[in-house]
Amino acid sequence: MKRPLIIALDFSSAEETNAFLAKLPDEKLFLKVGMELFYSAGHSLIYELKEKGHQIFLDLKLHDIPNTVEKAMRALARLGIDIVNVHAAGGSEMMKRAREGLEAIGTSRPKLIAVTQLTSTSQKVMNEEILIPGPVEETVKAYAKLAKECGLDGVVSSPLEVPLIHEACGKEFLTVTPGIRLIGDDKGDQKRITTPKQARELGSWAIVVGRSITKSPDPLEAYYTVKKEWEGIE
Ligand code: C5P
Repeated sequence: MKRPLIIALDFSSAEETNAFLAKLPDEKLFLKVGMELFYSAGHSLIYELKEKGHQIFLDLKLHDIPNTVEKAMRALARLGIDIVNVHAAGGSEMMKRAREGLEAIGTSRPKLIAVTQLTSTSQKVMNEEILIPGPVEETVKAYAKLAKECGLDGVVSSPLEVPLIHEACGKEFLTVTPGIRLIGDDKGDQKRITTPKQARELGSWAIVVGRSITKSPDPLEAYYTVKKEWEGIE
């Protein structure tokens, strides 16, 4: 698989989503459906996007007791999505059961990745509010190793942490990295960010780009700018 550029569809309805997609080229894309859109537009939108040939990362970041997560994954696997995720903070039993839930459908399962630390979490918040001591990088590394031991395919992290994850888990372990901005873009709530070019140089397997494209006055131009930087076309 070519290293994906995943566009985050952070919209509140199918109408808004389709109006946005109409501005992008008529090609098969890799799209991320998160909580806002899934909870608003539900399964029908996923089926619609899949029917158009797009690949889907369903970013629901499951984090619950192992039994609930396993059952939820069984249900999600039936949607025919390509990537789905959990919070590594849910622990090893939860991650293993998530994988088993996906495998239960029998056909080739979606890739399962774990969120390490959200790219909006600063060092201070992790230490003083979430009460995990030490540097963010150490938690990311430990969570990535745990996810690998549980048979997951990769993790979600900042591109800044990719070299560390590769060192701990090998280069085959997938790194899906949000927290991407073009030079001059508003950071918004993100803290640990890079440009698409830096993410490529750091070795990210996939980048997730939301507002740099969706909130751009010219989404098509922004899409091509991100794509060129990501693919290394100067
Ligand atoms: O608009 P922006 O490019 O910041 O969007 C990033 C997307 O990636 C959002 O949909 C957000 O939920 C998601 N995400 C993230 N950090 C993670 C996991 C997912 O920003 N660790």
